[in-house]
Amino acid sequence: MDAKRESLLPTLQAVQREHGYVPDEQVGKIAASLGITKADVYAVASFYGQFRFNPPGRHSVKVCAGTACHVRGSALILDEWSRLLGIEPGQTTADGAFDLERVACIGCCSVAPAVMVDGEVHGCMSSAEVRTVFNEVCAGDERARRAAGADGDAGEGNGAGRGDGAGDSAGRGVGDAG
Ligand code: FES
Repeated sequence: MDAKRESLLPTLQAVQREHGYVPDEQVGKIAASLGITKADVYAVASFYGQFRFNPPGRHSVKVCAGTACHVRGSALILDEWSRLLGIEPGQTTADGAFDLERVACIGCCSVAPAVMVDGEVHGCMSSAEVRTVFNEVCAGDERARRAAGADGDAGEGNGAGRGDGAGDSAGRGVGDAG
């Protein structure tokens, strides 16, 4: 299995690069090509935290759980994201808007606890900061949705170009109480 495991990792990484996650059907193909079971593939893939098995959300929230962030309260930051989004780490919201991950050091220990949202680092996070960032992302979605709707309305006037509500994280957002 060790030799197979060695070829399994780069294969899984290539699949994840292509799809953004590792679809179950691909797990089946990989297993068949290596002559191992799907359970074997999942066992290896799960061992490494880098693989995901469901499609990523449109917005990616990665909460650092490295040592520096851990000692500065990253667990509370993760809890706040989890509460706001209504999901656990490793999950994607039902509307596909957000996914939440707990990750190892993202290289910004001097501003721990740190979070990466859509590739952008936010440091010195507090619960209030989490809500601010969350609201900014939701506001951006709402602006994009309105712009898409405005573009549609500026079309031929027959209603065919109306926005379809693809920005379905609109309506999210929280107050800043507490
Ligand atoms: S431990 Fe969190 S950024 Fe390094």
